[in-house]
Amino acid sequence: MKITVDPQLCAGHNRCVSVAPHLFDIDDEGFASAAGDGVVDDADREDAALARDNCPEQAITLDG
Ligand code: F3S
Repeated sequence: MKITVDPQLCAGHNRCVSVAPHLFDIDDEGFASAAGDGVVDDADREDAALARDNCPEQAITLDG
């Protein structure tokens, strides 16, 4: 599974990093991106889905 954060939609709510801090990076302006290359292993699928579901802007998509 791969996480993508749409920079056009992210408004810096930071809920993603609150629920899954190991899966996201926050830049100096408070906007999120997927940590590393965005690929997460099976153990992190639930956390990734929780982050996606908690983003008020629906900026997070999960593929695979
Ligand atoms: Fe951005 Fe949504 Fe996270 S708005 S900071 S991707 S909770």
